Amino acid sequence: MTSIPTIAFKPHLLSVLRLALLMFASSAAVFAQQPGADGLGDRLYPRLGNGGYDVGHYAIDLAFTPESNTIAATAIVEALALQDLSSFNLDLSGLVVDNVFVNDETARFDRDDSELVISPSQALTNGEAFTARIAYGGVPAPISDPAVPWLKLGWQRWTEGYVAAVSEPSGSMNWFPSNNHPLDKATFVFRLTVPQPYTAVANGVLSETINNADDTRTFVWHMRQPMASYLALAAVGEFVEFRDESGPIIIRNYFPPDTDPGTITAYDVTGEMMSWLINLLGPYPFDEYGVVVVPGFPMALETQSMSIFGETMHDPEIILHELVHQWFGNSVTLMNWTDTWLHEGFASYFDALWVGEHYGARAYDGYVTAALNSNTALPAPGNPEKHELFSLSVYFRGALVLHALREEVGDETFFEILRTFYSANAYGNVDTADFIAHAERLSQRELDELFDAWLYGERIPDLP
Ligand code: ARG
Ligand code: ZN
Repeated sequence: MTSIPTIAFKPHLLSVLRLALLMFASSAAVFAQQPGADGLGDRLYPRLGNGGYDVGHYAIDLAFTPESNTIAATAIVEALALQDLSSFNLDLSGLVVDNVFVNDETARFDRDDSELVISPSQALTNGEAFTARIAYGGVPAPISDPAVPWLKLGWQRWTEGYVAAVSEPSGSMNWFPSNNHPLDKATFVFRLTVPQPYTAVANGVLSETINNADDTRTFVWHMRQPMASYLALAAVGEFVEFRDESGPIIIRNYFPPDTDPGTITAYDVTGEMMSWLINLLGPYPFDEYGVVVVPGFPMALETQSMSIFGETMHDPEIILHELVHQWFGNSVTLMNWTDTWLHEGFASYFDALWVGEHYGARAYDGYVTAALNSNTALPAPGNPEKHELFSLSVYFRGALVLHALREEVGDETFFEILRTFYSANAYGNVDTADFIAHAERLSQRELDELFDAWLYGERIPDLP
């Protein structure tokens, strides 16, 4: 949805030859058609995402057979060509592609690792809106990503009777074809068909539950705001819904039927956190919020408007952490995977603010001290390698970057920086330089040195 930086087409010998040929050709139309790039130039994930087009909307229609863990699906991708395209790629890993249509005409396709290369029967022209429809299916194969060595990503079974797709950063390509990079956000509709007694939970608003003749049900979920592919969620299992419509945002949580009542009530604090965050940062970015608790899932993740939690993850800090991500991470999203501190440092810092709010300044200081001491040598969080994307340093030294900024500029300016950085970039993408420039503008100070030391310095600097 947001515009993608144009990737320069690298001229190689072939195109030089073609150019020479063209000097004599009567029409330049053929020459202009080029394949879309197979990546977006992310330093850590060069082949995630694709160039040459911008997706506006995905419609994922997916039927799931639990016994065999098989999916049968159709994905409709509505996009805009950003250049003339002889072919373009989507990211899809494993599964079998049955057929591809572009603008209702059969298209040729090839598979190359996790690239699905689509060649429309008629080349696309720059500025043209087009629709690709991909019929595919099979058993999703979980994806290994060095950023998260402790778990696999994508669609998978977490325990008997519970399947869920969690994808940060690369996993969504194991269950639907997409432009799999946060730079290309889009709206989504999910039509998930599962047998009774299962419920299918996804992002956004549940608009319809259809009872089909064959004892299956189709759950239709609309995500009406732009979403990065890594935040797409599908969770299938037996769930009971708990709704709270008393606050500013409807909260609907999904729990397995035998969930301990203490786990269910642990999430009651969400409404208070929601109001507090709206007050600090501005409107909640999506239509509704909630969590889905999936047995056997070992962590928590901020899947957009419907965070996913394991059964034992319901500490207030984690509940708050995933809620803060709806603003920082999901609405304001990184441009390069190397900037995870903009998500994790921010979400972690709000834990300090929350304990400060509830238990006073000493509790806030206690958080800062604990972060400083969480590891005697927290490495620089600003330019991590893949295996460091979700390291202690990104979370805690990332949070300390904000604490140091607050000490430097004072409370009033600091909270104004957070609020306006959010409002200026809602539903968009940012990088570290954007945040530094914004903080400098609002504080009327040079902050390069402070950010350099905290983000890239080998040793933790002294606080201002
Ligand atoms: N962003 C998540 C959080 O901090 C978890 C990140 C690590 N796990 C992952 N699958 N990427 O809440
Ligand atoms: Zn996080």
